[in-house]
Amino acid sequence: MNTDLFGHPIANGKPAIGLGRRDHLTFRGNVALGRHGWLRLTPAYSLHLVHELLKQSGPDEFVLEPFSGTGTTPLACASLGIRCHAVDINPFLVWLGNLKLTRFDDGTARAMKAAARRISDKIRAPDAGAWKPDLHQIEKWWDAPTLHTLAAWCDAIRNPSRERAEGVTDLLSVAFCRVMIQSANVSFGHQSMSFKKKGDDARLFEESPARVAARLADAIVTAANDVSDSLSMEPPVADCHVFLGDSRELPTALPKGGGHYTAVITSPPYPNRMSYIRELRPYMYWLGYLADGRAAGELDWQAIGGTWGCATSMLNKWSPNGHGDIPFPHFDRIIHDIGKGHELLGRYVHKYFEDIKCHILGLKSVLAPGARCHYIVGNSKFYDTMLPVEGIYAALFEDAGFVNVSVETIRKRSSKKELYEFVVNAYMCSSIPKVRQRATSESNSGR
Ligand SMILES: C[S@@+](CC[C@H](N)C(=O)[O-])C[C@H]1O[C@@H](n2cnc3c(N)ncnc32)[C@H](O)[C@@H]1O
Repeated sequence: MNTDLFGHPIANGKPAIGLGRRDHLTFRGNVALGRHGWLRLTPAYSLHLVHELLKQSGPDEFVLEPFSGTGTTPLACASLGIRCHAVDINPFLVWLGNLKLTRFDDGTARAMKAAARRISDKIRAPDAGAWKPDLHQIEKWWDAPTLHTLAAWCDAIRNPSRERAEGVTDLLSVAFCRVMIQSANVSFGHQSMSFKKKGDDARLFEESPARVAARLADAIVTAANDVSDSLSMEPPVADCHVFLGDSRELPTALPKGGGHYTAVITSPPYPNRMSYIRELRPYMYWLGYLADGRAAGELDWQAIGGTWGCATSMLNKWSPNGHGDIPFPHFDRIIHDIGKGHELLGRYVHKYFEDIKCHILGLKSVLAPGARCHYIVGNSKFYDTMLPVEGIYAALFEDAGFVNVSVETIRKRSSKKELYEFVVNAYMCSSIPKVRQRATSESNSGR
């Protein structure tokens, strides 16, 4: 009998036994895992899954993660001693990913704890004057005493009163982010973040500003201790790096001299209208990666699958960009059916697959012959129209000349019965492409 990635029986590409939600195969399973658990961010996928895929790696493995997100793949590689380059279009995630990949000594861990304690002793009654980000309706996110305390911490972290060991400011920022989001008036019950309703979580007594400042100070010191302790857990041993760039232009995004990655392990954005910028905006505003709503929308427009803020009006003006058709049977009819419910959605899905097609075509110039690719993707449903995302990825890989393309079902995604997560596998042809063959023979002939 055929089995999936985890040894579970499958028949006709689908699980032969009931496939539950398998929450250990989502980012929730990462939370307790050292640096992987620093911040609970929606883009993350399962570390468990990445470890399964890395079991096949030999000593010369060089992994590419074109959609790095929170850095699950490069961090897993780094702690297993496997080289990895990653790319992401979001500068906040690039910062976070590279911080996770940094080797810190015990001195940094101790210096970080001490710095957090010093700030905590200082900020007991914050004034209202410190800088606050220009986040739309910030008063909905935090009440005034919480906001003033967060602003005072942010200022003390950014502008130290004495010199700090390298990395301490960045690590303190992670601890700050953790408490900043925990103290926000938002819930994470669903896939995306939403404001809590009035009355959820209501405190019995109104707290004094001094009491709020003390409670947050304790929380940030605790978070700083956790982050500091996590530095010694499965630390990175291989040099891995996340590059800021666009995965539709991999040769430009990656260091020169491509053509050498032996595996791609990734989870690209899904075509489900989830905006990572929307989800990550509180972190990005506080840490200075976003200044206003316009910048947020523009960054979302650059990201594959982004439709938030002004990205929506840009999508309204978008038309197919000439990368050719999407080679999947009835793709045009699927787009037409989705567009019948909502014209913009049809365009959204069309653009998403044009972008993915562009990415897959670009992959070929940075992979080694025979390289394996594993793409974790989820299917979607728009109104009554199913979008067979996994099948379209498989078709795009085949069309681009990849071989042995297959799809495995990993888990059920939500209570909706049709929504699953899959891994699409594809292999780069092992013969050297003709253009490179010619270049090699020309250089051998001494020209
Ligand atoms: C599903 S998340 C990746 C999750 C990641 N595997 C993890 O565990 O955190 C998709 C990521 O793709 C990034 N992204 C979107 N468009 C991109 C592009 N054109 N180039 C590079 N990264 C992009 C987003 O910023 C987001 O971080």
